[in-house]
Amino acid sequence: MSTRPLLNRSLAGMGTTIFAEMSALAVATGSINLGQGFPDTDGPREIAEAAARAVLEGRGNQYPPGPGIPELRQAIAEHQSRFYGLAYDPDTEVLVTAGATEALAAALLALLEPGDEVIAFEPFYDSYAACIALAGAKRVPLTLRQPNFRPDLDELRALITPRTRLLLVNTPHNPTGTVLTPEELAAIAELAVEHDLLVITDEVYEHLVFAGAHHPLAALPGMRERTVSISSAGKTFSFTGWKVGWVTASAALVSAVRTAKQYLTYVSAGPFQYAVAEALRLPDSYYADFRADLHRKRDLLAAGLGAAGFGVHEPQGTYFITTDITPLGEEDGLEFCRALPERCGVVAIPNAVFYDDAEAGRSLVRFAFCKRISVIEEAVTRLHTLHAG
Ligand SMILES: Cc1ncc(COP(=O)(O)O)c(C=O)c1O
Repeated sequence: MSTRPLLNRSLAGMGTTIFAEMSALAVATGSINLGQGFPDTDGPREIAEAAARAVLEGRGNQYPPGPGIPELRQAIAEHQSRFYGLAYDPDTEVLVTAGATEALAAALLALLEPGDEVIAFEPFYDSYAACIALAGAKRVPLTLRQPNFRPDLDELRALITPRTRLLLVNTPHNPTGTVLTPEELAAIAELAVEHDLLVITDEVYEHLVFAGAHHPLAALPGMRERTVSISSAGKTFSFTGWKVGWVTASAALVSAVRTAKQYLTYVSAGPFQYAVAEALRLPDSYYADFRADLHRKRDLLAAGLGAAGFGVHEPQGTYFITTDITPLGEEDGLEFCRALPERCGVVAIPNAVFYDDAEAGRSLVRFAFCKRISVIEEAVTRLHTLHAG
């Protein structure tokens, strides 16, 4: 047999994700899992019933249309108009995908050529690096640094070269919780227009903002025609297993992304598409209550982590809190997270895995707060024992 490594070299070193490792550790040790970002309570009952009805009534059980069912594309277009005043044609400017993950993969594979450079905020969501590598392109990190994890816009300007093809912007940002301000967005948009760059935005936490507001880059002058906006139903409606995501962009960009997407999954999640169409039309009270519930949970976990001795960075959005473990006399987040289940029965994620420059994230650890209040309270009680230990 050939001695050539089996794994495509662009994926070398990207073995099992840390989420799988830590979730397995949580199960093995009976720990509370504040690692992976999924809620421990399902989304609205009427939306689950809508999915069940679609299955039983035979809607979506066979291959749905390639771009997504018309009802969902219409609902996505309405959502963009309702929340952001953005008008998209549901027939040509909206594409339904298998979660935001597939939308990101299809967009990166469609829009990049080998040798292109992609500037993205570091720490990165882990699929970005893999998909950029699969496209043969190069990732160029713009590191968000402590204490505030804001992008340095002069550094961004300096990173742009003639090979820069694309900016990949995640706001609200996982794992830091940074929500870009209108001024930061305007500066990024200006650079994109000046250098004629494409932009992909990852907005999966768009409805999880506790301070300020989410503003899509696509709404800024000169941005609509160059921006592929990506979001999904998983976080907003607490159905992360359904994997229904979407792209909104100009017809030309959607057409390019659809070309790559059709050879990834072709289509997915037929009945869930009907349910997500209903979910997107839930009244404003749903979105407000959801945000208020997570806001309470954020405050509870932030206070508990602070009292347990962590340095706490309060997130403006998402359902993650980034902490610094140096006040606990610890330095290495990876070691700390590997030991934490044994030490006190809690699982967290070391932020270093989201960095190319692992040193920049070495002492940072991420906790998820999309869990029941009683679970957060118990986790906090357990984390308090670190003081004693
Ligand atoms: C920043 C970011 N983008 C994309 C995703 C994936 O979204 P989906 O489950 O819709 O594929 C996640 C999930 O954790 C995320 O945190």
